Amino acid sequence: MRIGQVIVPHGIVLAPMAGVTNRPFRLLAKEQGCELMFTEMVSAKAILHGNPKTMRMVQFDDAERPIGIQLFGSDPDSMAAAAARLMEFGPDLIDINMGCPVPKIVRNGEGAALMRDLKRAGEIVAAVKKAVPVPVTVKMRKGWDDASVNAVELAKVCEDAGCDAITVHGRTREQFYSGSADWNIIAEVKQAVSVPVIGNGDVFTAGDAQRLLQLTGCDGIMVARGALGNPWVFREIKALLVHGEVLPPPTIEEKVKGALCLLEKLVEWKGEPVAVREMRKHAAWYVKGLPGAAALRRRIYQAATAQEMRRLLEEYGRGEAYVHGDNAGC
Ligand SMILES: Cc1cc2nc3c(=O)[nH]c(=O)nc-3n(C[C@H](O)[C@H](O)[C@H](O)COP(=O)(O)O)c2cc1C
Repeated sequence: MRIGQVIVPHGIVLAPMAGVTNRPFRLLAKEQGCELMFTEMVSAKAILHGNPKTMRMVQFDDAERPIGIQLFGSDPDSMAAAAARLMEFGPDLIDINMGCPVPKIVRNGEGAALMRDLKRAGEIVAAVKKAVPVPVTVKMRKGWDDASVNAVELAKVCEDAGCDAITVHGRTREQFYSGSADWNIIAEVKQAVSVPVIGNGDVFTAGDAQRLLQLTGCDGIMVARGALGNPWVFREIKALLVHGEVLPPPTIEEKVKGALCLLEKLVEWKGEPVAVREMRKHAAWYVKGLPGAAALRRRIYQAATAQEMRRLLEEYGRGEAYVHGDNAGC
């Protein structure tokens, strides 16, 4: 897949996820073969105000390239100004969020609310496109609700306004993350536009990725929840798409090592107190479904320091918690 000058060899993409896809998370995904990544969504207003927390969220490492910064907002001029300001960070592309379902976002006419205002959506794409020298992409949903499925219409508006690729999440705003993603709408968008289309929704395994590509003819696949506690999903997808090879899932040892590695990177990037808080959910994702996971999760949620968390994970990796019978509830 090629988006402007950005090459994504096999179309393997990590989704933007607020509160998740920060630099440490992305670096691990990249190590496992992810080919294009996005920052967490950031507000155009916050960028223009130079909000320090937001400015940090858009920083990345050269090793992560190609990378896109995802912006949300509803005003074409401020979206364009924010995108222009972001150029000092050197992103490979700018992505516009037209899918966020959260009430406080859509109430401001941002995120998925743009699916109900095609004129404004087109104006935002055109303004951002004019403001930056890098490709501009759009991430949208199937529609607002079942009565207003309009991804095809919106995709055409965005293409006409100059966008360089479109990601479609096959759920409506009203669905949030419930039900299953409709892959047919991705196929319909693919047939309607000539820019690359990235399919998104319910890709949890390499097999899902292959099926989504085959079923829709889309150019790339984007993984969100399937990558939580599981950066290996990218190497599995790559092995299947490129070599037709089915890789075994990561071992418990690999999972523990991965979680420890994320913990170290988070401590380095965010400082210990924030890292320990954020690592709780990640650790739970890493061990989900493993023997003794419930007991480990309880202990991890009580850990107050990185050292304690490290010790719990290492013990678990050596099988100690499990051997000592702490696997109740699994
Ligand atoms: C925790 C979380 C945070 C998310 N944050 C964003 C975001 O910042 N921007 C965005 O466009 N989509 C966001 N999404 C939606 C995902 O990018 C993706 O479209 C959705 O989860 C469907 O893909 P999946 O079935 O692979 O999870 C988020 C999803 C989750 C689970």
